[in-house]
Amino acid sequence: MHEDALLTMDKITKVYPNGIVANNEVSFSIRKGEIHALAGENGAGKSTLMRILFGLEESQGGTITLNGSEIKVGSPHEAIAHGIGMVHQHFMLVPSLTVAENMILGVEPRKRLKIDLQKAIKDTRILSDKYNLAVDPLVKVQFLPVGTKQKVEILKALYRGAEILILDEPTAVLTPQETKELFAELKLLKNLGTTIIFISHKLHEVKALCDRITIMRNGRSQGTFNISDVTPTDISRLMVGRDVILEIKKGPSRPGNVMLSVKDLVMANDLGQRAVKGVSFQVRKGEILGIAGVEGNGQSELVEGITGLEKIAHGEVLIGGEAVNRKSIKEIRNLGTCHIPEDRMTYGVAKEMTIEQNVLADKHDSPAFTGPILTKTRAIRDLSNKLVRYRDCRSFASAEAGMLSGGNIQCSCRPEFFADPQLIYDSRSADLGHRWGKLNLSVTAW
Ligand SMILES: Nc1ncnc2c1ncn2[C@@H]1O[C@H](COP(=O)(O)OP(=O)(O)O)[C@@H](O)[C@H]1O
Ligand SMILES: [Mg+2]
Repeated sequence: MHEDALLTMDKITKVYPNGIVANNEVSFSIRKGEIHALAGENGAGKSTLMRILFGLEESQGGTITLNGSEIKVGSPHEAIAHGIGMVHQHFMLVPSLTVAENMILGVEPRKRLKIDLQKAIKDTRILSDKYNLAVDPLVKVQFLPVGTKQKVEILKALYRGAEILILDEPTAVLTPQETKELFAELKLLKNLGTTIIFISHKLHEVKALCDRITIMRNGRSQGTFNISDVTPTDISRLMVGRDVILEIKKGPSRPGNVMLSVKDLVMANDLGQRAVKGVSFQVRKGEILGIAGVEGNGQSELVEGITGLEKIAHGEVLIGGEAVNRKSIKEIRNLGTCHIPEDRMTYGVAKEMTIEQNVLADKHDSPAFTGPILTKTRAIRDLSNKLVRYRDCRSFASAEAGMLSGGNIQCSCRPEFFADPQLIYDSRSADLGHRWGKLNLSVTAW
C-alpha cells in the first residue's frame, strides 16, 4: 500500500438499495498535513465516499487503513474516535442554541453532574482564537450568517479532536469574500497540522487551495495527481470524460422581442418566508440572461415560479406575452418552456425508469408517440436511440436513466429534439448558449 499515506480507502464499493453504484472499487489515499481535493461532477460519488469514511454509510466492499492499521468506521461516533471530522453540505447545528452550546452537544463537559457551560464558552474562545475563526460563543446560531455557521461546524469538528477534516462542497453557500476567508483559515489549519479533504467541482478553487487532487467520475476514481502537474483542462477532461471547452467564444447577440417578462414576482419558500421579494426583469429572444448569487438566495424559488412548480404569491410571469400564473406545468411547457433542473437525479428524470420511458414522459399525449390505443413503441425507441447517439452516451434506449452521468441526463431535456422550445432554463451551466438561437435563462450559483 501507499507508504506515505496517513489514511487509505481501498477498493470501496457502495451500491444503494435502488441499484445505483455510487462507488465502484474506489481507492483514495491522503497524506498527513495536506489539503486534498476530491473533485467530480454532480453525482460522481464524492459525498458517498466521504459518508462511508465518516461512518454514515456502510460500503459493500473495501477497507480503510489509518496509520497502517485497518479500521472499521461504523458510525460518526467511531469516525470521531479515529480523529475524522466532517462538515456537511447542509449544516447540522441547532439554531436555537448558542455557539458554545452547539459546540459541546453530545460531548458536554461536566462539573460534578451539571453541564459546565463556562468551560464550554472558554474552550470555544480558545479554539476560535487558535484557528483565527473569530466566532462569538454566546450568540445564538440562528442569528449567524452562513459563513459563520460554517466556522462553527469546523470548530465543532476540531473540538471533538478531528485531525482529518472533511469539507463537503463548503464554498457552495459562501460569497466570494467568505470563500477567501475560508481559504485563509484552511491554510492556517493545515499549517497547524490538520489534514483536509476538500470536496469541490470548482477548478480555480482546487488550484488555489489544494496540494493534490483525486478526480471521480461515475463512481470511479480517475486517479490522484499533484495539483501542479495538472491543468484545469486536464482536470475537467477527467471529470467529464471528454474535452471541455473552458472558454466559450461568443458572437454578439441579436436580441428580438421580449419572450419572458417577470414583474414584481414574490415567491415563498418551504417555510412560508418570502424568498423572492419583488423581482422584475425581461429577457428577449436570442438572449442569455445569467442570474448569479450565492446558493439559497431565492434562485430556486424564482425558477419554481417561472416553471409553475410552485404557486406565485404575488406579481406576474409572462411567457411570450401570456401570463402563466394560473397555468398548469404542462401548459407552461406548451408555451415553449424547457427546464433542466439543478438536481437532475431527483427532479430531472425518473431514474429507475428506462431512457425511453423518460423521453416519453412529457410527450405521451403527442400523436407522434401515441396512437388511439397503444403508444408507438418504435417512434419512442427511435427518438431515444437518436438522443443516445447524439450525446454519445454509450447507452441504449431501454437502459435505466439513473445509469447515465449528470451531463448525459441533461440529454433527456435536449430541446432541439422536441417541439419548439422558446425558453430554456438551465440551473447548472450556461454552456447551452446561443446554439438554439432561442432564449436561455441560466442561473449560476457560486
Ligand atoms: N441515499 C441515496 N440513495 C440512493 N442513491 C443515492 C443516495 N445518495 C446518493 N445517491 C446516488 O449516488 C450517486 C452518487 O451521489 P453522491 O455521492 O451524492 O455524488 P456527489 O457527491 O459526487 O455529487 C448519485 O447517482 C446519487 O443519485
Ligand atoms: Mg455531494
